[in-house]
Amino acid sequence: MSEKKIIAVTGATGAQGGGLVRAILNDPSGGFTPRALTRNVNSDKAKELARLGAEVVAADLDDAESVKRAFKGAYGAFCVTFFWEHFSPEKEAAQVKTMAEAAKYAGIQHAIWSTLEDTRKWIPLSDNRMPTLMGKYKVPHFDAKGESDHFFTDLGVPTTFLLTSWYWENMIFFGMGPKRGSDGKLAFTLPLGDRKFPSIGVEDIGKCAYGIFKRGREFIGKTVGIAGEHLSGAEMAASLSKALGEAVRYNKVTPEAYRAFGFPGAQDLGNMFQHNVEFSDYFCGARNLGVSRSLNPEMQTFDQWLARHKSRIPLE
Ligand SMILES: NC(=O)c1ccc[n+]([C@@H]2O[C@H](COP(=O)([O-])OP(=O)(O)OC[C@H]3O[C@@H](n4cnc5c(N)ncnc54)[C@H](OP(=O)(O)O)[C@@H]3O)[C@@H](O)[C@H]2O)c1
Repeated sequence: MSEKKIIAVTGATGAQGGGLVRAILNDPSGGFTPRALTRNVNSDKAKELARLGAEVVAADLDDAESVKRAFKGAYGAFCVTFFWEHFSPEKEAAQVKTMAEAAKYAGIQHAIWSTLEDTRKWIPLSDNRMPTLMGKYKVPHFDAKGESDHFFTDLGVPTTFLLTSWYWENMIFFGMGPKRGSDGKLAFTLPLGDRKFPSIGVEDIGKCAYGIFKRGREFIGKTVGIAGEHLSGAEMAASLSKALGEAVRYNKVTPEAYRAFGFPGAQDLGNMFQHNVEFSDYFCGARNLGVSRSLNPEMQTFDQWLARHKSRIPLE
């Protein structure tokens, strides 16, 4: 039997990377084996990945030598950054540079970089329809990723640029689900207007990444966008109502109102929703549902995701 190709996975104990590790392990005859990178090989999540059969190695994206060591001998690398841990676009860019340089050093044959658009290509800093944040960004957690794509291309690393979508898990972990108002009724508050917005169950991102690796060289040098569905706020509220067995009203706030909510990242997210919605046709078009499903035939719809996860959404 030929040797399995190693895929080094950053963020392996997290959502995107964890989905990829599990997708590889669930396909033992697929020809790939996962190497899970973590800062702490002794954490419960790391031990669980080892128990499932992953090779678990220590690496910190703030320590370039550790990433080089962890990528050495691998065929592929899945690269993701963690904006919401530190809220620093500069740190995110530095970590992308570290991963691209490690991929070059290790002779990685296929890197997938989980990027997003640099929104300033659509709304330049001089455009005042939304505030400029941190001095030089419109949507910091998008812009720093898109701006960092060049680290891979400059070094000639064979790379697929993966455009992901808004996770439905944000309703569980990020307080973005329906909330009960003082009237006792549930309201789902997002500034999506009446436009369609691409979204996805996060486990499906890893499955799509696995689909890209399995297709060999087909997507190298290309940008691939993925989504589970393109839904409006009203459509999401209708699905939530059905799943929860209780009416959920879509509370269509303006991006200005959302930015003023004041929680950490509210301005960044308010700008993101405004941008994605104003350019809804582009954002949905760049995340083709047919391509996404061809990469991951198990892609969940929002209704299917809700059937599995609705009890985890805090409603208070
Ligand atoms: N929320 C959304 O809707 C959404 C949509 C699209 C894209 N994104 C983007 O997705 C990215 C986050 O991906 P995710 O959701 O998969 O993350 P996540 O679930 O929060 O995973 C974080 C993992 O990253 C690892 N990590 C953090 N800092 C590290 C470092 N310095 N070196 C090595 N590993 C480190 C941690 O592993 P250890 O503790 O084990 O080291 C942790 O398990 C963000 O950049 C965000 O902008 C989010």
